[in-house]
Amino acid sequence: MSLPLAPGLAGTRILLGISAGIAAYKSAHLARLLKKTGAEVRVVMTEGAQAFITPLTLQALTGEPVRTSLLDPEAEAGMGHIELAKWSDIILIAPATADLMARLAHGHADDLLTTLCLATEAHCLMAPAMNQAMWRHPATLANADRLRELGWALLGPDAGDQACGDVGLGRMLEPETILTQLLAERERPRGESSEMMPVHQDLDGKRVVITAGPTREALDPVRYLSNHSSGKMGYALAAACAQRGASVSLVSGPVTLSTPPGVNRIDVTSASEMLAAVESQLPCDLFIGCAAVADYRAASVGEHKMKKTDDDAGLTLELVRNPDIVATVAARPDRPFTVGFAAETQDLETHAGSKLERKRLDLIVANDVSREGVGFGSDDNAVTLLWKQHDQTTRRELPVQAKATLAAVIVDHIVDRLP
Ligand code: PMT
Repeated sequence: MSLPLAPGLAGTRILLGISAGIAAYKSAHLARLLKKTGAEVRVVMTEGAQAFITPLTLQALTGEPVRTSLLDPEAEAGMGHIELAKWSDIILIAPATADLMARLAHGHADDLLTTLCLATEAHCLMAPAMNQAMWRHPATLANADRLRELGWALLGPDAGDQACGDVGLGRMLEPETILTQLLAERERPRGESSEMMPVHQDLDGKRVVITAGPTREALDPVRYLSNHSSGKMGYALAAACAQRGASVSLVSGPVTLSTPPGVNRIDVTSASEMLAAVESQLPCDLFIGCAAVADYRAASVGEHKMKKTDDDAGLTLELVRNPDIVATVAARPDRPFTVGFAAETQDLETHAGSKLERKRLDLIVANDVSREGVGFGSDDNAVTLLWKQHDQTTRRELPVQAKATLAAVIVDHIVDRLP
């Protein structure tokens, strides 16, 4: 069975299960991301989960009553637990605690969530979250193996700092990454065992270089020219490519995001540094220029902080052009499949189309950054893909959706066209 998800999750019925881990606070954001894909989302919480986040929060975010008890005659009179199990296309448990994993691995049905999981034919996924020592315990690892045998897809866990102060493997994946991995699961036949990363490995063996975030062009030791890019779009693309098996180098301007799992991140500040870092990673099979690279930098950078003059005269800065990174990559004799972005505030497709030709790109992602709620800094985006087919510019509109979902769709589109 393939899940009815393409291109996003619109109309898919997702039951989000939440168990008793500190990562439950992230489940609110996950519920919001799932809703934004157009999915129908209902939430079931274990008793312990309610100590970390209230059912009311999830009810407000999903617009549906939250179920917490198997023995609730009123709720059962609405949609009984068996009906709920049948209603679900996907059951996603995030976070899944060590205890819940143990109960599910052994077929317990001692609360609503475990009972639903026994009664369902839905695709079942879980994002484990626990202390690193608990994750490494042979009992938990055996339960994880057993759950995979039973057809569960395990998303993560992630490595890093933990709420308890430990460092290691056991953190719940970020909601954006869970969503991307959920999308990648759509092709997996139910019952086929899944590894910790999704199975859809169509970029296996490919080298991908992606730029993300802004650049900063120094004016003096304390000031710089920059823009509002947060890096979210580029990081989502890097996560999507890594999850599909690519070896990804992410050349990043200054942002506050954490590095997606399995991605090699190179931090830079200026456009010149970004170009040098990109060239150090070539040749590659696919280059995606998502960074908002400053077109100009100061002709000279003051050694000391610029001082105001006493009069009311303004200040004139002399700027010079920065190298064009994506055009430089596309002009190489060993050029990869080259994808650019175009951030525009007017005449979107005209300007993006001219960048597609002028920079000799294989594909351009046109982004109207004047629209409310998309583009710079937001969690969502909407773009139009433009590319040449038989000398004609061809277009495909991708509506507003979470950047993680959009990245997966853009990568789908690229994969179909990669030589
Ligand atoms: O980072 P987020 O907050 O998630 O926001 C995402 C985004 C809006 C930054 C992203 O979707 C986007 O549109 N990125 C491109 C921003 C941009 O600089 O567009 P541009 O039209 O100025 O540049 C066109 C292309 O040339 C881009 O691929 C850019 O990376 C590249 N370029 C531009 C100038 C330069 N000197 N070198 C380049 O490689």
